[in-house]
Amino acid sequence: MRKLAAGNWKMNGVENSLAEIDALIAAHPAPGCDVLICPPATLLSRLSDRASGSAIATGGQDCHQNASGAHTGDISAGMIADAGGSHVILGHSERRADHGESDALVNAKSLAAWTAGLTAVICVGETLAEREAGQTIAIVGGQLAGSVPDGATSANTVIAYEPVWAIGTGKVPTLEEIGAVHDDIRARLTARFGEDANGIRILYGGSVKPSNAAEIFAVPNVDGALVGGASLKAADFGGIIAALEQA
Ligand code: PGA
Repeated sequence: MRKLAAGNWKMNGVENSLAEIDALIAAHPAPGCDVLICPPATLLSRLSDRASGSAIATGGQDCHQNASGAHTGDISAGMIADAGGSHVILGHSERRADHGESDALVNAKSLAAWTAGLTAVICVGETLAEREAGQTIAIVGGQLAGSVPDGATSANTVIAYEPVWAIGTGKVPTLEEIGAVHDDIRARLTARFGEDANGIRILYGGSVKPSNAAEIFAVPNVDGALVGGASLKAADFGGIIAALEQA
């Protein structure tokens, strides 16, 4: 399985930020892992053009569950594909918290992504209160069951395990805690989707940086990372790519 370093720029990035892509391509012309950048929708087309011919794939951070229509402010999966994207992040905890996205909605969005030919990067993860209550495995398992549609394959789906309390906080679970959740996700995927699910990439996300990436990538069933803050600068994201190449 080829591992995946995925960058989520969130609501960051304007024209000037494209220079980071030039720097990333120059530093990693032929990376030994897959590399994905998901900029804000306003930059997707420009970034896709800039990365065209390179090893960097691009994607969206969300899509609507419908293909088109009267949905002011939303974008469809087909629009992401039209703008050069190949992936879309779905069910990120910030979408779940800020926009009340349910597992059922994330499931519908994932189907829309597949229909448009995109790979869905489906996010799951527990809050601090849920972890402290010993509910992590049950919460993540429930999100996985509800958010991932029937028909998931290693080609159309990537899972990102992102503990809500680790996102943007500098806090990271222990390697044992990460391993326990990733092992459980793998077991649930193979139980539901069969042997092919061994090839579904399971990313860890939440305060991944160059300094902690190598130890996280050494955990079994961690097949890459979904990176927020440290994906904004080519030097930082490059350090994470380098760690993944050596994992
Ligand atoms: P972070 O964000 O790397 O800034 O913690 C991760 C994410 O939300 O995908």
